[in-house]
Amino acid sequence: MSSNLVAAGDHPVYDYKVVRQFAIMTIVWGIVGMGVGVLIAAQLVWPQLNDLFQPYTHFGRLRPLHTNAVIFAFGGCALFGTSYYVVQRTCQAKLWGGWLVPFTFWGWQLVIVLAAITLPLGLTSSKEYAELEWPIDILIAIVWVSYALVFFGTIVKRKTSHIYVANWFYGGFILTVAILHIVNSAAIPVTWFKSYSAYAGAADAMVQWWYGHNAVGFFLTAGFLGMMYYFVPKQADRPVYSYQLSIVHFWALISIYIWAGAHHLHYSALPDWAQSLGMVMSLILLAPSWGGMINGIMTLSGAWHKLRTDPTLRFLVVSLSFYGMSTFEGPMMSIKTVNALSHNTDWTIGHVHSGALGWVAMISIGAVYHLLPILFGRKEMYSVKWINVHFWLATIGTVLYIASMWVNGIMQGLMWRAFNDDGTLTYSFVEAVQASYPGYFVRFIGGAFFLSGMILMAYNAYRTARAPKQVEAPANPEPQTV
Ligand code: HEM
Ligand code: HEM
Repeated sequence: MSSNLVAAGDHPVYDYKVVRQFAIMTIVWGIVGMGVGVLIAAQLVWPQLNDLFQPYTHFGRLRPLHTNAVIFAFGGCALFGTSYYVVQRTCQAKLWGGWLVPFTFWGWQLVIVLAAITLPLGLTSSKEYAELEWPIDILIAIVWVSYALVFFGTIVKRKTSHIYVANWFYGGFILTVAILHIVNSAAIPVTWFKSYSAYAGAADAMVQWWYGHNAVGFFLTAGFLGMMYYFVPKQADRPVYSYQLSIVHFWALISIYIWAGAHHLHYSALPDWAQSLGMVMSLILLAPSWGGMINGIMTLSGAWHKLRTDPTLRFLVVSLSFYGMSTFEGPMMSIKTVNALSHNTDWTIGHVHSGALGWVAMISIGAVYHLLPILFGRKEMYSVKWINVHFWLATIGTVLYIASMWVNGIMQGLMWRAFNDDGTLTYSFVEAVQASYPGYFVRFIGGAFFLSGMILMAYNAYRTARAPKQVEAPANPEPQTV
C-alpha cells in the first residue's frame, strides 16, 4: 500500500489528528456517561442498587458524575472535535497554536478523569453543573483559554474573506462559556478539596442559575447550532436555507439567552421583578430558537428524498425536531403558573432529556457519523445499515424516556397539590413516589435503548477504522462548499 494511502485519513494541510482523537472520545465518553445514566435510572427503579459500593455508587454521587460525563465529556469532546474540523475547513487554514492543540485534547481528558475520580469520592462544590472543586476549575479555565486561542487564532489566519456562520456560533459558545465558568466558579478555598462560593444567599443562587441556564444556552445550544450550520448543509449537500436568517438567529439568540436564567428560581427569594424578567425573556427566546430550527430543517428543501436512504442525515434532521420541541416546552415551563406545576417534578427531567438526547446527542452522533469515514480515509461507514439501526434505537429510546417523564411529572405535580375539602393533603409524598415506578421503569428501558445504539456505533467506528483504506488524501484544501 502506498504511503499516500496510509496517510489517507490525515489531510496534507489540515490537522485531522486532534479531530479524530476528539471524535473517538465522544463515543467513549458517550458510552460511559450514558452507562452511568442507565445505572442511576435503574437505581430509581431498584433502590437496592445504591448499595453496590457504598458510598461511592450512591445515586447522590453518581448523578453529578452522569451530568458531567454526558455534558462536558461527551458533549464537550463533540464540540471540540467538530469546531476544530469546521474552523479549518471553512477558514481554509490549519489550526493555529502548535502544541496548544494537543494540550487542549489532553488537558480536557485530564479534567474528565479528575471529575470521574473526585465526584464519586464526594468532593463537590455542590453547584449544579459546576460541581468540580477549585483546582480542577483552574485547570478547566486554562484549557478553555487555550481552546479560545486555537479557535480564534485559526480564524485570524483564515484564507477566506468572510467568517462562516457556524464559526460565529462556535465562537460565541467558547467566549461565553469562559466568562460563565470563571465568574460562577469564583470561590474561597479552605483546603485542596474544599472551597466556598464567593457569593452568598440569593445572589449566589442568581449567579449559579445565570451560569446554569447559559450552560444550556451556550454549551448545549449555541455550540451545537454551530455544528448544525455546518453538518446539515454538508450532509444534505444543499446550501443553508437562508444565510440572512442565520445571522439574525445568531444575534437574537445570544442577546436574549443571557437574561433568561431567573426562570430556574421562580417562587424563590429572588426579587419578583427578576423572576418575571426571566419569564418574559424565556418566552421571547422561542422566536430565535424556532428561527434557527426552521432554517436548519428548510435546508433540506429539494433534498427530502435523501432522508429515505441516509440515516446520518436522519439523525441530524430529527435532532432539529427535538430542538424545536424542547425550545417550545422550555418557554412554556418558564411561565410562572406552569412552573408551579412542573418545578421539581420529572417533567423537568423529561424536558432536559428531550434537549439532551433528542437534540444534543443526536446532532453529535450525526456529525460524528459524517466525520468518521473522512477521518479514517474511507468512502463511508463500515455499515450504513447499523447507522439506521442506531437511529431507531436512539429515537425510540428518546421517546420512551421523555414520554414517561412527562406522565410522571404531571402526575407528581397534580398529586402534590391535591387538597381535601378540610384542607389536608390528598396524597402523601410517598404515594407520589410509588405511582412513579412504572414511569421510572419505562425510562430505564428507553435509556438502555439509547445506550445500546451507542455501543453499536462504537463497534461500527472500530470496523470503519480497521477496514482497508479507500480514499486518498486530497492534495489541496477543498474549496468552501457551504
Ligand atoms: C427556549 C429555550 C428554553 C427555555 C426557555 C427553557 C426553559 C427551562 C425551564 C423553565 C426549566 C425549568 C426550571 C425549573 O423549574 O427548575 C428548564 C430546565 C432545564 N432545561 Fe431548559 N429551556 C430551554 C431549552 C433547553 C434546551 C435546548 C436544553 C438542553 C439541551 C435545556 C436543558 C435544561 C436543563 C438541563 C434544565 C434543568 C436544570 C436543572 O434544574 O438542573 N433547556 N428549562
Ligand atoms: C442513556 C441515556 C441517559 C439516561 C438513561 C439518563 C438518565 C438520567 C437520570 C436517571 C437522571 C436523574 C434524574 C433525577 O434526578 O430524577 C439524569 C439527569 C440528567 N441528565 Fe441524563 N440520562 C441520559 C443521557 C443524558 C445526556 C446525553 C445528557 C446531556 C447531553 C443528559 C443530561 C442530564 C442532565 C442535565 C440531568 C440533570 C437534570 C436536572 O437536574 O434537572 N443525560 N439523567
